[in-house]
Amino acid sequence: MTTSALHELLRQAAPLAADMSISDVADRLLTAEQRAFLSLPVVDAQRRPLGLVSRYTLQDIFMQRFGRDLWGRRPVRDVMNATPLLVSIDWSLEQAAQQVTAQLKYPITEDFILVDGEGAYLGLGTVLDLLKAMEARIDQRNRVLRKALVDLKESQAQLVQSEKMASLGQMVAGVAHELNTPLGYVRNNIELIREQLLPLLQLAETQGQLVDCLNDPGAGQARLGEALALAEQALGEAPLEQLLGDLDQLFGDTAYGLGQIGELVGGLKDFARLDRAKSEEVDLNECVKSALLIARNSIKDKAEIVRQLGELPRVACAPSQINQVLLNLFTNAAQAMERFGHIHVKTWADEAAVFISVQDNGKGMPADVMARIFDPFFTTKPPGQGTGLGLSISYKIIQDHGGSIRVASEPGRGTRFLIRLPRVQASELKRSA
Ligand SMILES: Nc1ncnc2c1ncn2[C@@H]1O[C@H](COP(=O)(O)OP(=O)(O)OP(=O)(O)O)[C@@H](O)[C@H]1O
Ligand SMILES: [Mg+2]
Repeated sequence: MTTSALHELLRQAAPLAADMSISDVADRLLTAEQRAFLSLPVVDAQRRPLGLVSRYTLQDIFMQRFGRDLWGRRPVRDVMNATPLLVSIDWSLEQAAQQVTAQLKYPITEDFILVDGEGAYLGLGTVLDLLKAMEARIDQRNRVLRKALVDLKESQAQLVQSEKMASLGQMVAGVAHELNTPLGYVRNNIELIREQLLPLLQLAETQGQLVDCLNDPGAGQARLGEALALAEQALGEAPLEQLLGDLDQLFGDTAYGLGQIGELVGGLKDFARLDRAKSEEVDLNECVKSALLIARNSIKDKAEIVRQLGELPRVACAPSQINQVLLNLFTNAAQAMERFGHIHVKTWADEAAVFISVQDNGKGMPADVMARIFDPFFTTKPPGQGTGLGLSISYKIIQDHGGSIRVASEPGRGTRFLIRLPRVQASELKRSA
């Protein structure tokens, strides 16, 4: 408990009786045991504090001409301060400090009296001790606060990381799904190609046998006739023109499917770039494209994407982080659709900055929701569906890039997010200055 703090401040000072002479008090103040004190307590027979007499007062008296002769025999009661500072030992250090500093007068000429719960004298406390104890306490508080701050930062970093992992997981699931379609028909096409090749192989084989027969002087008419019949039959079963046309088509489709697979894998690589979180010069249109590619699966049943990508200068940024922001905006837009809608993605630049606008014609949001969307954990989605971290993390990422993210929304009409990223970031300006 905090009471122990005041116990530590307690110093033993033998109290004075009210009728003790001023001379005797002065002598007492000169003894070694009393040197630490500015003042001495005066108590009654029940040890109730009556007042404090300070060195300062006595010095004043003794500095007067004949001071000791005039005052020395008088009782200390006549010169004591009858309203001394009283502090109960049960108080907290803070309470005591508040009380003492509120009543303290300058210069500090007295100590304070510590009393027990019944108001009986226990000992003296010095202002200096009290201040030291407060300082130590504040130091300790500061340490605790500093540690709390470090912990907070750490857990925030962990949150950001786990959001990142969650969005990566979502993205991987989306991409796996996307890969399935081209993978399916590439596999199908290979089966078909294998089937289409069978009559061609048959044809090649019978033709080979016929050639062998023709080249063999010993081969009789009968064998030759048989080989010719087989070759003719195989030719009939392999309509060359049609087969070659079909195969061409199949190979074309397969190549297209493989191209799509390649594109998805490439997009995934561009998107993730976890290994390169540091700033690099990036064409933000590439980020938009790769985030759209990744989000395509979760958007396609909800909305059509309209792209309007302008010419952009490269800007220094962490592409994986920007991708994460865009993915958040696209997913939010798709989730805001009440019926099949549009998501309009537009990019452009001016002399100072690059802009990305993501506009949807979903359900929009009222002002009280809009005021809170960037708060961590704010979500209007049912439990288990949204963590409410998407936009707060996006906000932080854009802020870290020296940019801004703004929102405009109207219930029933839709929402628009506008990202502005400076072409030259403040940190670079500082570096080059
Ligand atoms: N395009 C939008 N249209 C309407 N409301 C939106 C839109 N984008 C965000 N909001 C609102 O802002 C809230 C916070 O969005 P945020 O992305 O931070 O979290 P979330 O989408 O709810 O959850 P999480 O992103 O973690 O899945 C959403 O719950 C929603 O109410
Ligand atoms: Mg979200």
